[in-house]
Amino acid sequence: MTSITITRPDDWHLHLRDGEPLRAVLPHTAKQFARAIIMPNLRPAIITVEMALAYRARILAAFPAALQSTFEPLMILYLTDNTAPAEIVRAKESGAIHGVKLYPSGATTNSGAGVTDIAKCYATLAAMEWNDLPLLVHGEVTDPDVDVFDREKVFIDRILAPLTRRFPGLRIVFEHVTTRDAVQFVTEASSNIAATITAHHLLLNRNAIFQSGIRPHHYCLPVLKRETHRQALLAAATGGNSKFFLGTDSAPHGQASKENACGCAGIFTAHAAIELYATAFEQAGALNKLEAFASFHGADFYCLPRNTSSITLKKESWIIPEQYDFAGEPLIPLFAGTSLSWKLV
Ligand code: DOR
Ligand code: ZN
Repeated sequence: MTSITITRPDDWHLHLRDGEPLRAVLPHTAKQFARAIIMPNLRPAIITVEMALAYRARILAAFPAALQSTFEPLMILYLTDNTAPAEIVRAKESGAIHGVKLYPSGATTNSGAGVTDIAKCYATLAAMEWNDLPLLVHGEVTDPDVDVFDREKVFIDRILAPLTRRFPGLRIVFEHVTTRDAVQFVTEASSNIAATITAHHLLLNRNAIFQSGIRPHHYCLPVLKRETHRQALLAAATGGNSKFFLGTDSAPHGQASKENACGCAGIFTAHAAIELYATAFEQAGALNKLEAFASFHGADFYCLPRNTSSITLKKESWIIPEQYDFAGEPLIPLFAGTSLSWKLV
């Protein structure tokens, strides 16, 4: 196959940051995706409808004028111990807010304002179930006694499974699943439970973090897992099940924050997101399954119309730049300096 044309995809999990960094990364996403779910883990976190609408306006203002009508940011509220049920009603009424993100406090970048005890959120979760506003979940426990590679599995057992029983009508997106356990949980759960899968978790296993030395640009959260888990993710993504859809979790950090004695978690993939997914699907012999995963399943789950325009990828080798500009700092993309065999036309 020398080219493929698919309905323009959406990114159902994206970190855009704010200010100058936002201006630097936004064009990478807008050149390929029609819409993206925008993560609210800024500092300060986006905890109110007012903050989300102001952030949305900043994103739209950051566009080069020519792109303005072609990309839509879909906003998300950041759940805290104190998010009021009334805020959920306001979020739903705004029409611009498409979900609420659960970060267990301490689980990842800028999660300090996150939830310390899920029981504190029950009234708010009930309001979300009632108003049909999806819950997006960073599915890892933070207990230091739990091995870092087991945090997703333990989260399913301790938090997520009980939550689905308590709120059976709540729509939930289990974000960036990384394990066979998560794939199995989502597959067996009711139809209101779905999951996003990143390109990096489809392409890499945990050996990539330690390949002839420590590789900070392969460090993200949830951390890469062993090969058997990668195989399970690939099977889920390419298997045609509408519960699984594209979410890059592209998470830019400047070079100095990554190449650091205490480096930040996050892999930047927006520079070549759809090409990276195409590479993974091709390796699995399933390029014909890419369109539904990238362009249909997520829109259907979020009850949004499918896009009507299209994009084309050509089979053509190109070298990923060593770095991109990130507000005056270098930003090192995934697979910097190496070649990819699919290229967005
Ligand atoms: O690797 C990650 N980076 N995982 C997250 O959950 C957050 C993200 C970020 O914001 O940098
Ligand atoms: Zn994320």
